[in-house]
Amino acid sequence: MVVVRMVVCVHMLVLFHFACLSSQLCPPEERSALLHFKTQLITNITVYDNEDEVCRHGYPKMRMWDTGTDCCSWMGVMCHSVSGHVIGLDLSCSGLEGKIHLNSTLFHLTHLHTLSFAYNYFLGNDQFPSQLGSFVSLTHLNLSYCGFEGEIPSQISHLSKLQSLDLSFNYGLGWKEITLKRLLQNATALHEIVLDYTDMYSITSSLSNWSFSLSLDTLSLVDTGIRGHLTSHILCLPNLHKLNLFGNEDIQVHVPNLNCSTSLLSVLDLSFCQFPGSQIPSSFSNHTHLTSLALVENELNGSIPSFLSNFQHLTHLDLSYNTFSGQFPNVLLGQLTKLQTLSLRGNRLRGKLLLSSLANLTQISRLDCSHNKFQGPLPNKITGFSNLTKLLLNDNLLNETIPSWCFSLLPLLTSLDLSNNQFIGHISAFSSYSLQVLRLCGNKLQGNVPESMFNLTELCLSSGNWSDSLQFPQNLEASNVSYKFIELVSLQLVEIDLTNFSKILWKFPKLETLELSENKLEGRVPKWIHDIHSLEFLKLSYNQLSSIGQFPWHDLHYLPISFICNATSLEIVNLSHNKFTSTIPHCLANLSKLIVLDLQMNKLHGTLPSIFARGLITLNLNGNQLEGHLPKSLCNCTNLVDLNLGDNEIEDTFPHWLQSLQYLEILVLRSNKLYGPIVSLKSKDMFPNLIIFDISSNNFSGQLPKAYIKSFQAMKIVVGAEGQSSFYYINSYGEYVIGTILLEYDDSVTETMKGIRSNFEKIPNILVSIDLSSNRFEGEIPDDIGELRALENLNLSNNKLVGHIPRSLGNLTNLESLDLSSNMLTGEIPTELTNLNFLEALNLSQNQLVGPIPRGKQIDTFLNNSYEGNMGLCGFPLSIQCNNNVPQQQYPSSEAEDKFGFGWKPVAIGYACGMVFGIGLGWFVFWLGKPQWLVIIFDGKWIKRRARITLFSFGF
Ligand SMILES: *[C@@H]1O[C@H](CO)[C@@H](O)[C@H](O)[C@H]1NC(C)=O
Ligand SMILES: *[C@@H]1O[C@H](CO)[C@@H](O)[C@H](O)[C@H]1NC(C)=O
Ligand SMILES: *[C@@H]1O[C@H](CO)[C@@H](O)[C@H](O)[C@H]1NC(C)=O
Ligand SMILES: *[C@@H]1O[C@H](CO)[C@@H](O)[C@H](O)[C@H]1NC(C)=O
Repeated sequence: MVVVRMVVCVHMLVLFHFACLSSQLCPPEERSALLHFKTQLITNITVYDNEDEVCRHGYPKMRMWDTGTDCCSWMGVMCHSVSGHVIGLDLSCSGLEGKIHLNSTLFHLTHLHTLSFAYNYFLGNDQFPSQLGSFVSLTHLNLSYCGFEGEIPSQISHLSKLQSLDLSFNYGLGWKEITLKRLLQNATALHEIVLDYTDMYSITSSLSNWSFSLSLDTLSLVDTGIRGHLTSHILCLPNLHKLNLFGNEDIQVHVPNLNCSTSLLSVLDLSFCQFPGSQIPSSFSNHTHLTSLALVENELNGSIPSFLSNFQHLTHLDLSYNTFSGQFPNVLLGQLTKLQTLSLRGNRLRGKLLLSSLANLTQISRLDCSHNKFQGPLPNKITGFSNLTKLLLNDNLLNETIPSWCFSLLPLLTSLDLSNNQFIGHISAFSSYSLQVLRLCGNKLQGNVPESMFNLTELCLSSGNWSDSLQFPQNLEASNVSYKFIELVSLQLVEIDLTNFSKILWKFPKLETLELSENKLEGRVPKWIHDIHSLEFLKLSYNQLSSIGQFPWHDLHYLPISFICNATSLEIVNLSHNKFTSTIPHCLANLSKLIVLDLQMNKLHGTLPSIFARGLITLNLNGNQLEGHLPKSLCNCTNLVDLNLGDNEIEDTFPHWLQSLQYLEILVLRSNKLYGPIVSLKSKDMFPNLIIFDISSNNFSGQLPKAYIKSFQAMKIVVGAEGQSSFYYINSYGEYVIGTILLEYDDSVTETMKGIRSNFEKIPNILVSIDLSSNRFEGEIPDDIGELRALENLNLSNNKLVGHIPRSLGNLTNLESLDLSSNMLTGEIPTELTNLNFLEALNLSQNQLVGPIPRGKQIDTFLNNSYEGNMGLCGFPLSIQCNNNVPQQQYPSSEAEDKFGFGWKPVAIGYACGMVFGIGLGWFVFWLGKPQWLVIIFDGKWIKRRARITLFSFGF
């Protein structure tokens, strides 16, 4: 009801506004141009209805346009008060879908001054409308969040009157250097430039060479890939108020001096850029007008510079994820009395957390000191903090008891995270009325959990440490009362030695996340869990569960896991690592929302269901006893990213029909009874995103799948440097997550980024791997394999491969493990293998290789057993010397000779013959802004992927 009323209000306001402006009727040709334009697009307001705060008041403006009325009175249309020409078109948040064609009648509106299509859905508009260049009178252009892609047409530089340009959040959209240069030259009045997430990677000239108008007020280039130096020529622009270069890792901040005559700079975000010397330049101390400063993840070290106390106007300060050390900067911070949000998260600050010295910060609403090394107790008493809504002190070394003010004295506190510290003792009286999120996991608390805590929305009591004396949930279990926790949305009770929960009579009408993994739960899943219809995330893995339980409305004998079928809102099912012995219910296909089905490591038997939920992203049935064929319907699950059916008894030929799955990254079919040659049906994109291909230990025969190897595009691209990957994504609370660490960012960003839940079982470790071992492949190893430069593991052992080891393997410089053993390979070991600097395991044994073993670098660290069973190899580390290039017969060498005879020193690098790469089940999912875009970052490099899916996942 409320929503409806708001929409109507806005509508009326808009009408009124435009009615005032237009005393003139709009020209008929412009009216028909608008009407024709309308017919070219679909209006679908549901696209933004619920999701986007920005479009809360979204309205299908074009629906109201009709032939019978003056177009100047139409919603979103603005006419000139004298000439009557249409000069403004604001169709933002109108739920538009479709294409704007080059010949669109939109371009007949040549008098337009302002044009906004922000927040619509021009997905598939593979060409940015170059005709925009014909709007020569345009002063304001907003095409943000439109889904445009391709190259920005050069004609945009014709818009010489432009004052404000916003093309942000069009991920496929790229700049050519010459286009941007001409635009900046021609549009001399541009004062607002917002180009976040457009692609500037092809621009080679340094940011310091760009010329901006002196009237520039706002420059926002978040994650564009621009490079070069940020110098005072921008920082001293006399009218610059806001500069945001977040996420441009190739930008170096180079500001030795800053003597601007005036500087009005108020908002500065240089997060994820580079600061030479890892210091904030002292010249920044002249930016005394700053109200918001963000320097997240800039590798800044040393103590937090005291000149920050110059910034008396600061309301937001974010120094998270640097390596600042030293004590809590209480004196400095105590002077920033206007601070509203402060984040020191993820640094190396130590010593006492002197919260009392922040008493003067009367406006402070968010305080984040998490992920540091603060130690000692929290103060017993505290004054101030009356506006504090979020207090995050998790992941420190804080100890002693939690003071009572945490639970009672902060009137506006909604979120409190004290997890992963060393707090002990009982939880004191709990009487906070405002608190919604409370995380106490990972401490050494004991005693009763106050019942009222269960009235929060999110509660974490999981732990790696405590539990012996925790009176939970026994105290609730003992009484025969039926507890109803109406607010709880997320409850985490991982690893607290829960044994029996069948007697509990809890009711959770809103619960979406329930984590009970790593406990000692046995037998049946109790009814109260079945009754949680709102559940989206259920984690019961690592228990001793054997059955889902009995329900009058189900056929138990045949479908014991069939409770799943009743929970139609389930998105994620993880019942892995239990003892389930049933078949997989075929009704799973009906769960329209299911995205993750993880039943690995149980004892499931029978055939695979013939149809799976189409939205599946992760399907893991690894380690069961499933048999029969691979269901062809899996190729309808077009969002699949992670498919693991390994260690079962599936009997079939290779599922070539999976090759069309564009997002598939992980395909594991190892240890089944698959057979026959792998025939690839030639098509354009076969497995373009695959990074793990494991079909080992089957009965495949014929040639190695050359056509696939050629088309594994994702394996050809090396992401990140030195294999060190850090992950960033947005979690369910709209926070950035780096690896397993949470990074919150300011509200303006989180508003546009939303995520779905995350689940880390291990620290993610992307592996790029091909394992074709233990089959009956024959023929030669294709040269093309050397193009898969990202490959970290290659295992072709135990086949019948012949011919030489291709020299191209020397190009696989990321390789950590190479196993070609037990084949019939001949010829010499190519010297190119000495290029493999990361190689930790090498096995070439049991072949027919001859000649000298190449020397140098990593190769020298391998022992005899890398080479044994080859009759003609010689040289180090073997005992057979290579004489006159005539390789001698190899004789078995004694261990003593190996170890001491040649001065061999054991090396630290692990050698593992037939190294096993565990393909874990960890995954995470996220999405950003509109559903069709994803951003992943490796090593600070943002990898953008276009996808039609709302979720994305990674196996590791
Ligand atoms: C409108 O958008 C919703 C949500 O994306 C979609 O389910 C629906 O099919 C769309 N309707 C039309 C007519 O395209
Ligand atoms: C505009 O072009 C599209 C495709 O390029 C075509 O289908 C359409 O008929 C054209 N419309 C007009 C009005 O010419
Ligand atoms: C600059 O703008 C004018 C006026 O729109 C246009 O005629 C000219 O082509 C533009 N120059 C460039 C280099 O785009
Ligand atoms: C700060 O500005 C003043 C006055 O413009 C100038 O003299 C001084 O050198 C500047 N300081 C730094 C560190 O750039």
